[in-house]
Amino acid sequence: MKPDDLRRTLEFYRDIGVKTLYRQPRTGKTRQPEIAEPVEQPVVAEAPPAIQLPTLAPTGDTLPRILEDIGDCRRCRLHEGRNKLVFGVGNARAPLVFVGEGPGADEDAQGIPFVGRAGQLLTQMIEGTAKKEGIELLRADVYICNVVKCRPPGNRTPEPDEMEICGQFLYRQLLAIAPKAICALGGTAARALTGHKEGVTKMRGKWLDWRGIPLMVSYHPSYLLRPYNQDAKREAWEDLKKVLHFVYD
Ligand code: URA
Repeated sequence: MKPDDLRRTLEFYRDIGVKTLYRQPRTGKTRQPEIAEPVEQPVVAEAPPAIQLPTLAPTGDTLPRILEDIGDCRRCRLHEGRNKLVFGVGNARAPLVFVGEGPGADEDAQGIPFVGRAGQLLTQMIEGTAKKEGIELLRADVYICNVVKCRPPGNRTPEPDEMEICGQFLYRQLLAIAPKAICALGGTAARALTGHKEGVTKMRGKWLDWRGIPLMVSYHPSYLLRPYNQDAKREAWEDLKKVLHFVYD
């Protein structure tokens, strides 16, 4: 990374309240693809179709009931490589839900979404930005989940049929929590929820809608971990401030 990029990256982390930086230990010269986080591309050549509307959620649906219905899921091929199913984490009555794409290696090992490098950045962004904006908020106060609950092999983008099958549970989670706002992290989650076909750069920063709930699209934290995305880092921070003030002011 060039010195100027490094400085801007460090300034960005400082601005969002990041105090500790972790370095991924490297075993060889090249990074192993199986431990790479999913990476969000800002522009997509061909957008996958939106998730089809699911059947109506049972009345009085709850997160434990949804988890029970998922069970030892074998509805799609993703279960084959699964270590742990990653349902979601956080406050079942959260006014704000973050939706990512799908578990990576760390999440698959622990059964908890966003605990790897991208997850640590997300946590620091949520807590650091909230603190800076005078909002008392911890990661545990929001709810965090993904479009698909099992890790796609090699962190590939989930296939449309996988998102459609698993999407019914995401929809039920969102309906059960009924947050004040949703933040879709990255283009895959954004397209799955909104049906829009654009890339994340076109969709981010504006209020969209998911069944009457305001939805903000922002960059996936994996994308922000790349060294050369200074504008995206600044924009992600602006998006998050907008969401936090809307929900918590
Ligand atoms: N990326 C995601 O989209 N979700 C996770 O849980 C972790 C990384």
